[in-house]
Amino acid sequence: MSIFEKPYELKTPVFYRGEPIRVLGIESTSHTFGAGIVEFRDGKVYFLSNALSQYKPTRGGIHPRESFIHHVNVAPKIISKALDESGLDVKDIDVIAVSVGPGLGPCLRVGSSIARFLASYFNKPVAPVNHAVAHIEIGKLIGGLQDPVIIYVSGGNTMVLTQGNNKYRVIGETLDIPLGNLFDTFAREVGIAPPYVINGNHAVDVCAEWSSEFLPLPYTIKGCDLSFSGLLTAALRIARERLNDKEHLGKVCRSMRETAFNMLIEVAERALMLTNKKSFLLVGGVAANKVLREKMIAVAEQHGVEYYGTPPEVAGDNGLMIAYTGLLHYLYGKTTKPELVFVKQRYRLDEENYPWLP
Ligand code: FE2
Repeated sequence: MSIFEKPYELKTPVFYRGEPIRVLGIESTSHTFGAGIVEFRDGKVYFLSNALSQYKPTRGGIHPRESFIHHVNVAPKIISKALDESGLDVKDIDVIAVSVGPGLGPCLRVGSSIARFLASYFNKPVAPVNHAVAHIEIGKLIGGLQDPVIIYVSGGNTMVLTQGNNKYRVIGETLDIPLGNLFDTFAREVGIAPPYVINGNHAVDVCAEWSSEFLPLPYTIKGCDLSFSGLLTAALRIARERLNDKEHLGKVCRSMRETAFNMLIEVAERALMLTNKKSFLLVGGVAANKVLREKMIAVAEQHGVEYYGTPPEVAGDNGLMIAYTGLLHYLYGKTTKPELVFVKQRYRLDEENYPWLP
């Protein structure tokens, strides 16, 4: 069933009983420019639209300036598409939400400039949204989980978190590169990318099918934090020994993937034991990975807890998650004036309070 087919009940207590509220969310932190619209009516959240366009580098990683140019070019079309799909006019929007960080400076400034302009011109409040918080909030809403252990994995982040005293608490995180970046860099360096994604599977997953063997690689957990850079260096060194040997490359891909996922799951299990929570929530772009999902399901079963993985449509970067988190900002009085909206490239999700959290 599509995520658009049913409304979602807002489980956090809200005392708003007024007219329906419509929020436009703008996402532009990295390679994606997205615009999504949600409506809040009678205690329920309706997803109205989710339009996006992704900048895909022809070679190498994301170049901030090129991604910025992509966003500037597609922004009017994507915002119009989101409005058309929702059947609304921009004047019907009550709140403009925008992801203000963390992300790439030039990219972030596209979204925030548009948000400031729309909010000033149409006299609307702005919800300055933390991108990481948005990934988590949309996962919690769709999964119907209020207080899970959260595993947030993407090209730019790797964190295991919980909530408490109106804040997100980071239990463990990467000390160097994020998990998504480990896969992308490896694929690029050994010549199996672009494209990174082949029929919905990452190039590393595709190559991992070429072998069923496992090779021990550096498995680094420090306290509850993770380190992937040693794993990347070792995997690259071994892969380069026989780059044209398909089975050898497959073995390295499989081993690197297994090692990285197992490290992440060990930290997630530790977090579960430490906090006594009753569910796992997997969010972020890497949440779409089938192997990681299967592993998470097995671990949740072992511990007798609930598991929910964000659906692929909203696992990656998108405007809908920004719109929904913007709605929470509005309902809990966390909106501001357009002139007070600034981008924060290193905006951490544990640096401020979110009143809707337990
Ligand atoms: Fe993201």
